Amino acid sequence: MNRENQNKTPLYDKLKQHEQQKNISFHVPGHKFGNVFPDKGKEDFARILRLDATEITGLDDLHGAEDVIFQAQQLLSEFYGSQSSYFLVNGSTSGNIAAIMTVVRPGDQVLIQRNSHKSVLHGIELSGAEPVFAMPEYEDATGRYSKITRSMIETAMHRYPEIKAVVLTYPDYFGRTYELKEIIDYLHDRNIPVIVDEAHGVHFKLGAPFPVSAVDLQADVVIQSAHKMAPAMTMASFLHVQGGRVPLSRLEYFLQMHQSSSPSYPLMASLDLARYFLAAFTKEQKSELMDYVQEIRTLLAQSSVFKLLPLSRKDDPLKITLIPHPSLSGFEIARHLENAGLFPEMATAEQVLLTSGLVPHLDRSALKKTLKTLNCQLKIKSSHDTIKRKNISIPALQTLEANYKDMSFKTPVFLPWKVALGRVCAQAVIPYPPGIPLILKGERVTREHYKQTLSLLEERAGFQNKEIELGMWVF
Ligand SMILES: Cc1ncc(COP(=O)(O)O)c(C=O)c1O
Repeated sequence: MNRENQNKTPLYDKLKQHEQQKNISFHVPGHKFGNVFPDKGKEDFARILRLDATEITGLDDLHGAEDVIFQAQQLLSEFYGSQSSYFLVNGSTSGNIAAIMTVVRPGDQVLIQRNSHKSVLHGIELSGAEPVFAMPEYEDATGRYSKITRSMIETAMHRYPEIKAVVLTYPDYFGRTYELKEIIDYLHDRNIPVIVDEAHGVHFKLGAPFPVSAVDLQADVVIQSAHKMAPAMTMASFLHVQGGRVPLSRLEYFLQMHQSSSPSYPLMASLDLARYFLAAFTKEQKSELMDYVQEIRTLLAQSSVFKLLPLSRKDDPLKITLIPHPSLSGFEIARHLENAGLFPEMATAEQVLLTSGLVPHLDRSALKKTLKTLNCQLKIKSSHDTIKRKNISIPALQTLEANYKDMSFKTPVFLPWKVALGRVCAQAVIPYPPGIPLILKGERVTREHYKQTLSLLEERAGFQNKEIELGMWVF
């Protein structure tokens, strides 16, 4: 990689130049670089609207890049060491869908993790492929189902030898990784492409103490939400390809299909700048960041209502997981934190996740005050109040009861829970965040699903299915 080149930001620079030229706009967008805009909000939007151009001469086109966007993507590819890299303006969601549709065809079997993000499931549904689900193993160290192993993948490949592609999530939402290299090597020996949803790992390229990036582990396609852990605007993401198993023209076709034909220039420029930021990140900045994270962890560790999950080399140090006192739930802790003015990334019944940025940014005294408020307001309960949760039992390998094609010909009905039991789920039940389905579309609804959903509702978990308290959509 040429270090000097990485100081360049061709797309951002071109937009600035265009702005400075004070050209006359007789083209869309209708806000005319911010001149036509409601007074209410004008001041806030003004700066960014000056960069909000469209595909006019000189500004290139994401869906046929050959000029400044091409150069910016080229620099991205050089930084990550990929064969080709792309900017995504519709999030990792669009990258996951396009990558999956590229590598599988209708009727193909594809192996995915049971705890995949819904965009992975949507990609498979759209592709017409048939998913085989591998359930990650429970890890005592994390208290979550976070471990995928080579032997799980081998078992799946023996049982379903027709599998054409594998889609893995690495790291999980909490920043936990696993031995991905040996899985990729095993699958590449069989010429099976591996797509990695690295939505939470865009910064792994910075090297230790961050886990190794899936791009460095030679995954065929790696999708990263640059907006999650790097300083890019929301929705702005990266996709990297390498290894020659994935046809680029087919991938580009699906990327066009699943993204706007008017991709946002501020979003793309923020990707250009995010890559520049990562490439310029120094050892000193990294060490300062780690000291800062340790300082925040030490502050948080003083709480009487939660403890911290220890970190190992498999964990992203920027993710801080709080483990509530056994008499409290993660949702309770999160609610009280929010009332005290601290908004976590997400909560589950058992854990609360906080994410740090890549540069020290917190006001320590405000954090101390918040924690003090929390400790005063939230009292641990007596030992007999300990919450006992039973985790749902999910088979290690699973296929769906009904395939997506058959389901597309059926009309779902909404039924109260008790009547829905035993029927096939027509609309995945998805606690949000993290957006990982509890009941999959095409899966038979069990009493265990029902109990798990009820207990999550009791603890006031968020669901995207608004009517879930009453029942569910089934076939
Ligand atoms: C593991 C995982 N994959 C994919 C996505 C989708 O990413 P985006 O929001 O960039 O579309 C998310 C979003 O939370 C995620 O957690």
